[in-house]
Amino acid sequence: MPSDEDPTLSEPQPVLSPLTTAALFLVLTVDPGGEPVVRELLADLAGLQRSVGFGHPQGRLSVVAGIGSEAWDRLVDGPRPAELHPFEELRGARHHAPATPGDLLFHIRAGRQDLCFALGSEIMNRLRGAVSVADEVTGFSYLDMRDLLGFVDGTENPVGRAAAAAVLIGDEDPEFAGGSYVIVQKYLHDLDAWNRLTVEQQEQIIGRSKLTNVEIDAPGSHVELNTITGPDGAERKILRDNMPFGSPGSGQFGTYYIGYARTPSVTEEMLRHMFLGDGPFSHDRILDFSTAVTGTLFFVPPAAFLEDLADQDEQTASAAAQGSLGIGDLKHR
Ligand code: HEM
Repeated sequence: MPSDEDPTLSEPQPVLSPLTTAALFLVLTVDPGGEPVVRELLADLAGLQRSVGFGHPQGRLSVVAGIGSEAWDRLVDGPRPAELHPFEELRGARHHAPATPGDLLFHIRAGRQDLCFALGSEIMNRLRGAVSVADEVTGFSYLDMRDLLGFVDGTENPVGRAAAAAVLIGDEDPEFAGGSYVIVQKYLHDLDAWNRLTVEQQEQIIGRSKLTNVEIDAPGSHVELNTITGPDGAERKILRDNMPFGSPGSGQFGTYYIGYARTPSVTEEMLRHMFLGDGPFSHDRILDFSTAVTGTLFFVPPAAFLEDLADQDEQTASAAAQGSLGIGDLKHR
């Protein structure tokens, strides 16, 4: 378990990696009995990433692993992160944000799709038989960082220290300092309907100019509904790394939404604004053209926490060998 005494234990996973041009999002459920295999893989994850990525430094390969609320108790013997809970389904008058299964998230990023593919393959080779795949999405950056609605996406992301402050847990949950929360949602776009709008109508929905990406005056826009402030009046930020995905052949076009935050309550407030409305605005009109088909929340432990997970099985094995197995140990067998 991380502690304050050893500062290296709070080293985060690479959640603050800069935006890349390729990504692979793997959402898995852990099969009954698969827990030890999963723990071992999570402990080796940083090493696997180094093995695949080392020979391609320009490729900037990184991987972040997240653990879902129910899986936490199956995988981890010890305290829970303070705010870890399942994704909260939202039912608005017009639109629905479903909660869908997911015990593990692997957010793999690189400047090259083949590196994401190679690392994803190594991870799945290790996990096959211990997990089931709930969702797999290959994301790509599109033109000049646009989503498939045609707007530049990611502009208002915090950077540098502001990003770290928005995303990484600190003293509020010292046992998990350096960790983070991440929410993912897969959205499918109705591009035919979207493209029937004029550019001006689209800009009013997003809140930015399509060509120049400059913020415009657009009450109830996506940007406005997602600009939220805390009790101190300061803006509360999250770190998004959305990626377009799609298949022209089958006419599927989407945005894979992924948002990291120090507390899931920030992202949840944004989602409530989008789906349940805010003041005079009943919902985010981006949803009239984009349907959320998944929704899952994960905790992203600090890097060293993952490395220590394999020790649990060694301790359980040695306790079993000595005939001193406790109730806490039994749930991991
Ligand atoms: C269909 C899915 C989505 C698309 C296509 C999309 C697209 C965009 C675009 C184009 C912008 C403006 C540029 C920028 O600052 O990035 C934006 C801003 C933003 N979006 Fe989204 N978004 C989606 C879903 C979400 C969701 C689910 C959330 C939160 C739960 C969210 C949170 C934000 C935030 C916080 C901003 C920045 C607001 C500001 O401070 O200016 N977005 N999004």
